[in-house]
Amino acid sequence: MTPLLEIRGLDVEFATDEGVVSAVDGIDLGVGRGEVLGLVGESGSGKSVTALAVFRLIRPPGRIVRGTIRFEGRDLLLLPEDEMRRVRGAQISMVFQSPRTALNPLLPVGRQIARLYALHQGCAPAEAHRRTLEMLGLVGIPEPERRARQYAHQLSGGTCQRVMIAMALATSPRLLIADEPTTGLDVSIAAQILDLLRDLGPRTGASIVLITHDLAVVAGLCDRVAVMHAGQLVECADVRTLFREPAHPYTRALVRSIPRVDREATMEPVPGAVPSLLAAPPGCRYAERCPEVLDTCRRTRPAPIALGPRHEVACHAVEAARAAAPRR
Ligand SMILES: Nc1ncnc2c1ncn2[C@@H]1O[C@H](COP(=O)(O)OP(=O)(O)OP(=O)(O)O)[C@@H](O)[C@H]1O
Ligand code: SF4
Ligand SMILES: [Mg+2]
Repeated sequence: MTPLLEIRGLDVEFATDEGVVSAVDGIDLGVGRGEVLGLVGESGSGKSVTALAVFRLIRPPGRIVRGTIRFEGRDLLLLPEDEMRRVRGAQISMVFQSPRTALNPLLPVGRQIARLYALHQGCAPAEAHRRTLEMLGLVGIPEPERRARQYAHQLSGGTCQRVMIAMALATSPRLLIADEPTTGLDVSIAAQILDLLRDLGPRTGASIVLITHDLAVVAGLCDRVAVMHAGQLVECADVRTLFREPAHPYTRALVRSIPRVDREATMEPVPGAVPSLLAAPPGCRYAERCPEVLDTCRRTRPAPIALGPRHEVACHAVEAARAAAPRR
């Protein structure tokens, strides 16, 4: 079956005073129907830029240089803007990284949601209002009637986040992209938001892309995980495989960095700094940090190889080890 979303060879660049920043470099990524995919990587690895590219919201000085982004078989990058606007509103929704700034400060939050029901589902005002209250209840907001009349600045961060999720769901999207939906929230509110997202897939049939720098969040929520480093996709696997048998040296370092309850909860940062994306070298962008680096790593970019049915990794050392291993 074709995936719901299929990204192939995506490159995104930003023209800056210092030169061209290659923020996303040749990404291939698919999202299955009903699947929850985690997109992880350190700050600056290109997670948000990838999501904005799917939404076609990369603004100058940024641009999508090449690639295809197929959604239900259609290449979004080739759609006229008015058709893309319909996809954006009705079929793909995004919860942006900072919820409060993404909400309109001048409209009560209920009105913002009701407008979506009127616009996308043709609801009359009373019906739009009824569905708004129902949706606020669904995302776990107590007293929906009262909350609907309030403005973003009157709500806590957690409630704003829920309102954003309610807005994202009001159009019954096939795909929800949630960019760091729990950043900045306190632990118990974050847990509630994650529970809500966990429920959503089965309840609505929507696929979810969950963007986070936190692998512990992914472990509890996702079916599959894609790992980005400095704009490149380095490994993709189902969640159990990724935690039990991470193959890429960067993924292994990331997995080691998760605090665990069964050992001392010290977070080990991944050694070395994220490389500059200005005039990025042609090979593997992890080469300067990698304990297993080979001569070829700095020259040629490793191509993704399949280690299992749903496990792909792009690494010369993994490829060399496989070539050297006796065949079973
Ligand atoms: N407007 C811009 N101008 C120049 N470079 C940009 C711009 N936006 C993004 N970038 C570049 O793209 C890279 C990836 O940014 P992105 O926001 O996708 O990272 P991220 O993985 O979402 O990080 P975080 O976890 O901090 O949200 C950045 O490191 C930066 O170099
Ligand atoms: S390709 Fe080379 S530098 Fe990159 S992770 Fe693999 S071994 Fe390390
Ligand atoms: Mg981001």
